[in-house]
Amino acid sequence: MRLHHAALAALSTPFTTALNLDVNSTSSLSNASSTIVHGLMSWYQNNASSTPPTAIGTLPAPLYWWEAGAVWGGMLDYWAYTNDTSYNPTMTQALLAQVGPNNDYMPPAYFTSLGNDDQAFWAFAVLTALEYGYLSPLNSTTQWLDLAVAVWNTQVRRWDTTSCGGGLKWQVFQSNAGFNYKNTVSNGAFFQISARLARYTGNQTYVEWAGRSWDWMNATGLFDAQYNVFDGSDDLINCTRVDHTAWTYNPAILMYGSAMMYNYTNGSAVWEERLSGLLGASVRNFFSVENATNVLYEFACEPENTCNNDQFSFKAYMSRWLAKSAIIAPYILPEVRTLLTLSALAAAQSCSGGNDGTTCGQKWYVGGYDGSYGVGQQLSALETVQALLLLGSEQGRLAPRVGSGVVIGQATKTSTFVLQSQTAAPGGGGSGSGTRSADANSANRQRMRSWDAWPVLGLPVMVMVFGAGILGMER
Ligand SMILES: *[C@@H]1O[C@H](CO)[C@@H](O)[C@H](O)[C@H]1NC(C)=O
Ligand SMILES: *[C@@H]1O[C@H](CO)[C@@H](O)[C@H](O)[C@H]1NC(C)=O
Ligand SMILES: *[C@@H]1O[C@H](CO)[C@@H](O)[C@H](O)[C@H]1NC(C)=O
Ligand SMILES: *[C@@H]1O[C@H](CO)[C@@H](O)[C@H](O)[C@H]1NC(C)=O
Ligand SMILES: *[C@@H]1O[C@H](CO)[C@@H](O)[C@H](O)[C@H]1NC(C)=O
Ligand SMILES: *[C@@H]1O[C@H](CO)[C@@H](O)[C@H](O)[C@H]1NC(C)=O
Ligand SMILES: *[C@@H]1O[C@H](CO)[C@@H](O)[C@H](O)[C@H]1NC(C)=O
Ligand SMILES: *[C@@H]1O[C@H](CO)[C@@H](O)[C@H](O)[C@H]1NC(C)=O
Ligand SMILES: *[C@@H]1O[C@H](CO)[C@@H](O)[C@H](O)[C@H]1NC(C)=O
Ligand SMILES: *[C@@H]1O[C@H](CO)[C@@H](O)[C@H](O)[C@H]1NC(C)=O
Ligand SMILES: *[C@@H]1O[C@H](CO)[C@@H](O)[C@H](O)[C@H]1NC(C)=O
Repeated sequence: MRLHHAALAALSTPFTTALNLDVNSTSSLSNASSTIVHGLMSWYQNNASSTPPTAIGTLPAPLYWWEAGAVWGGMLDYWAYTNDTSYNPTMTQALLAQVGPNNDYMPPAYFTSLGNDDQAFWAFAVLTALEYGYLSPLNSTTQWLDLAVAVWNTQVRRWDTTSCGGGLKWQVFQSNAGFNYKNTVSNGAFFQISARLARYTGNQTYVEWAGRSWDWMNATGLFDAQYNVFDGSDDLINCTRVDHTAWTYNPAILMYGSAMMYNYTNGSAVWEERLSGLLGASVRNFFSVENATNVLYEFACEPENTCNNDQFSFKAYMSRWLAKSAIIAPYILPEVRTLLTLSALAAAQSCSGGNDGTTCGQKWYVGGYDGSYGVGQQLSALETVQALLLLGSEQGRLAPRVGSGVVIGQATKTSTFVLQSQTAAPGGGGSGSGTRSADANSANRQRMRSWDAWPVLGLPVMVMVFGAGILGMER
């Protein structure tokens, strides 16, 4: 355990937050989650009777289409973890409003911003509905399975062997900037959807694609041998170099997919090693800010105040998938509980801004509200606080379901998670200065991007890639 003394003090001192969070009390956690959800839903207006049908279920501009899918995923968890059904009609309406003409989350109204990762965040939501037995208006969960499978079917057809030996491109449409970028979030999302469908259905096709997409990401260097996870590569250079920026949501996506495969394979050594490796690297890279050890932070942009709207929400997915991973790979539960408990306390402390006094901020390591607010900030705090309800739920109640005929074995007592030495922390380790990438081997780190890893590119490529990462199109 790496409990920093300040963080330990925070755990044991009955300090007061605007949310009055008692991490050992289900009713307190539930109550706090409900307060944060209220703030989150105050941003949601696109269910008014005047809303055009294509906009129902989406968030106001400049927020992109994908983030609404992410919000409904978090809201489904809120319902499952708290039993609060108040938002169910809103969620159901939203989830079904955006399926598009082919029932595969490809609504034409959003084609200009629709990448594989964007589509995937809606698939994650319906997979959650499926796994927690959330009933569709047809009184079954089959509709959610059909939607997730339809998304998977569109994506498997986009697997592109004309460059880089395979992989999904970031964008679906050539007209969108980023069409040549083959990134971790798109391929990691396809990996996670494959893994979840594999575990739910037991269908070998999904098992094979989970393995194939993982192997391709490994071969392409989207993560290294220490499980530092990078942002992406480019098919114009046949993926010979990698952009090493480290965002929390990339390892998180891989972690839950690995946990799903670990669980589906009844605890195979291969997936255990991968899950442990991803968790260890995440602890080193994203929970090591100075004076706030074990408090989750967005390493690549929070210290410099350069996060965009997409990035404000990334911590939500780290918390979401850390907690869900611990349910299906119980051997990591003690470490995950420590990380999420200290992060939830810090997040709750940040939820003390705005007119309501419970608006959540962005940087949880500053010991209060930092003046920042929005959907991403609210969602990140929500998913971190409510994650403790999942971790505290009684055995089995919130285990993701499986389809008929699929049998999952119980965890063995032999699996253990041992956090490796902190000294190799690439850019983490608490110095608070230096790199914002997770490149353990780079001698010449830069604050934001590891351009040292890139060859001299033609200007259009440079502009595209730079624009993709820096100019607010990270999604
Ligand atoms: C919560 O429970 C844990 C384990 O029983 C204990 O160590 C900790 O002090 C408790 N925290 C609070 C705030 O009561
Ligand atoms: C829930 O929060 C409200 C407002 O902060 C408070 O009045 C109430 O006592 C809380 N209930 C529980 C069970 O913590
Ligand atoms: C829209 O959604 C909000 C948040 O769930 C809810 O409070 C409101 O009643 C909904 N409005 C309509 C017209 O459904
Ligand atoms: C939700 O309901 C279940 C089943 O009744 C119960 O076990 C669980 O404690 C409830 N959760 C909360 C947060 O109240
Ligand atoms: C679903 O179940 C509800 C409540 O049991 C019922 O009112 C409704 O008619 C059912 N809908 C369908 C499509 O069967
Ligand atoms: C592109 O990369 C793939 C995967 O490494 C490799 O198999 C292929 O030969 C490369 N193509 C070219 C033209 O270099
Ligand atoms: C397994 O999944 C694939 C891809 O969706 C599908 O084509 C195939 O029919 C499925 N097999 C079975 C036995 O359901
Ligand atoms: C990545 O690929 C290398 C080379 O094939 C292999 O030795 C290694 O085990 C792979 N690692 C993971 C985590 O898949
Ligand atoms: C950590 O705490 C020390 C001592 O209070 C302080 O000097 C330092 O600036 C803090 N670091 C950060 C990043 O806040
Ligand atoms: C896991 O174990 C169960 C029995 O406990 C067995 O039915 C199932 O086939 C096993 N799954 C795999 C993928 O080996
Ligand atoms: C798989 O997940 C279930 C549900 O949480 C759990 O009971 C089981 O022990 C897990 N299996 C392994 C091998 O960890």
